[in-house]
Amino acid sequence: MTRRRIWPRRVVLLLVAVALLAAVLGTLAFALAHRGDAPPPPTATTDIPASPDLVRRGEYLARAGDCIACHTTAGGRPFAGGVALPTPFGTLYSSNLTPDTDTGLGRWTAPEFWRAMHNGVGRDGRMLYPAFPYPNYTRVTREDSDALFAYLQALPAVRLPNRPHGVRFPYNTQVALAAWRALYFTPGNLTPDTRQSAEWNRGAYLVEGLGHCSACHSPRNALGATPAASALQGGRIPLQGWYAPSLQAAHEAGLGPWSVPDIVQLLRVGVAPGASVSGPMAEVVSQSLQHLSDADLQAMAVYLKALPQTAAAPDDRPVADAAVLARGSSLYIAHCAQCHGDAGQGKPGSYPALAGNRAVVLPQADNLVQMILRGGYQAQTAGNPRPVGMPPFQHLLDDGEVAAVASFVRASWGHAAAPVSALEVQRVKESTR
Ligand code: HEC
Ligand code: HEC
Ligand code: HEC
Repeated sequence: MTRRRIWPRRVVLLLVAVALLAAVLGTLAFALAHRGDAPPPPTATTDIPASPDLVRRGEYLARAGDCIACHTTAGGRPFAGGVALPTPFGTLYSSNLTPDTDTGLGRWTAPEFWRAMHNGVGRDGRMLYPAFPYPNYTRVTREDSDALFAYLQALPAVRLPNRPHGVRFPYNTQVALAAWRALYFTPGNLTPDTRQSAEWNRGAYLVEGLGHCSACHSPRNALGATPAASALQGGRIPLQGWYAPSLQAAHEAGLGPWSVPDIVQLLRVGVAPGASVSGPMAEVVSQSLQHLSDADLQAMAVYLKALPQTAAAPDDRPVADAAVLARGSSLYIAHCAQCHGDAGQGKPGSYPALAGNRAVVLPQADNLVQMILRGGYQAQTAGNPRPVGMPPFQHLLDDGEVAAVASFVRASWGHAAAPVSALEVQRVKESTR
């Protein structure tokens, strides 16, 4: 008798348990499918005003993340967005991050901002384009995200509606983005490696997270992704005609053999014994890295120095033939030697040496060609307030002449790198927007 009364109760309990489990599993599956798609948190801002300390901290982190590089147009109001970012899939325009209520982040809450940084999802639930480097920023802590948000909310509001993106079908669909994210994006934190020092871990956090070095220094596949396995191994920056060399190879941009103080100097000043940053890297140094604290630069240097380093693959392409080298040599004497020296030795403190400079013998000659075509300035930093410049030569030299002088530089003073063809010069020109 007692049994009959107990059984049904057990069955009921069991059924309830099964139902609960099903609900939990269902929710989990839904959450997984809609990772980062959680309903927006309440919009009422009950936040008390951020402390000046938090705002200052956020400002520092915004420097470390170089937000300004993409969110401020030349001559435009800071963080008001509208910067055109050309990609192989069409042009993207960065968003207005100022606290304007209608066109910026005025209605956003800290949790919504965190969701954008961590999950790459906008306030309205839209999956964002990864040109916003959230595959890196996902590693930023909640605490740092909140400080960044406090800083952005303390900026003067600028009324500037976001420009619609000009991305081609099918890349402009949320389905395409969902597929891309399923393949290449996992939101996640950086788990500290307990075998490494606190300094190394801080460096990893800055390089892999806010610093988003891999956004340029990694090869991109046909879908524009930088697969984790090849992170920091060097890649062409699409549509800019620059190659960001490997940070894991000493003959490219690897820093394994360098001393920590020299690395810190390169990151802070842009010029260090044996190297001088140019092009997009000069902007990274002047807008972001030079503003970081000694302790943070030191931590980055420790991490960069410890990255695994691969050796140079033997380059068995022949150097240029004698006729091309003779032509290149006379062009060099006529156009380059007055600054870089007859033997490529440069002038310490102003003109970089080309002899023994790994930047001119990279397997990809894009940067060398780019420098000759467009010239450029070293990074302007507190440590190098009046950087010297190099004039552009694209209106003075034709493709064949640029190729000849580049080939000469790659084959002189002990260098033995493959020549550059006129066709390659043309390709670099065409790959630049
Ligand atoms: C390499 C360029 C780049 C950098 C660097 C960058 N962003 Fe962006 N960001 C973008 C682009 C492009 C978008 C637009 C994405 C979209 O609409 O899908 C965007 C969108 C955003 C959004 C979403 C805004 C909205 O209205 O939905 C936020 C928030 C944001 N960025 C914050 C930041 C912060 C904070 C930093 C610095 C830590 C930063 N971004 C650095 C390119 C960049
Ligand atoms: C916007 C793209 C971009 C980003 C982001 C970027 N780099 Fe670079 N970097 C380049 C390019 C392009 C070059 C090649 C030009 C040069 O040698 O300066 C380069 C060169 C370098 C060099 C070699 C300098 C030399 O002349 O030997 C180092 C080291 C370096 N980057 C480190 C970093 C680190 C560390 C980060 C992250 C904090 C970073 N880069 C972020 C584009 C980028
Ligand atoms: C008026 C002086 C001047 C002349 C002429 C000049 N350069 Fe330069 N060059 C510079 C300066 C200054 C820099 C550093 C600028 C920078 O890094 O953006 C530089 C940088 C370079 C670099 C990049 C070095 C590095 O470490 O990344 C290369 C390569 C180069 N020059 C090659 C040439 C060649 C080839 C010619 C002749 C066709 C030439 N330059 C003519 C002043 C000059």
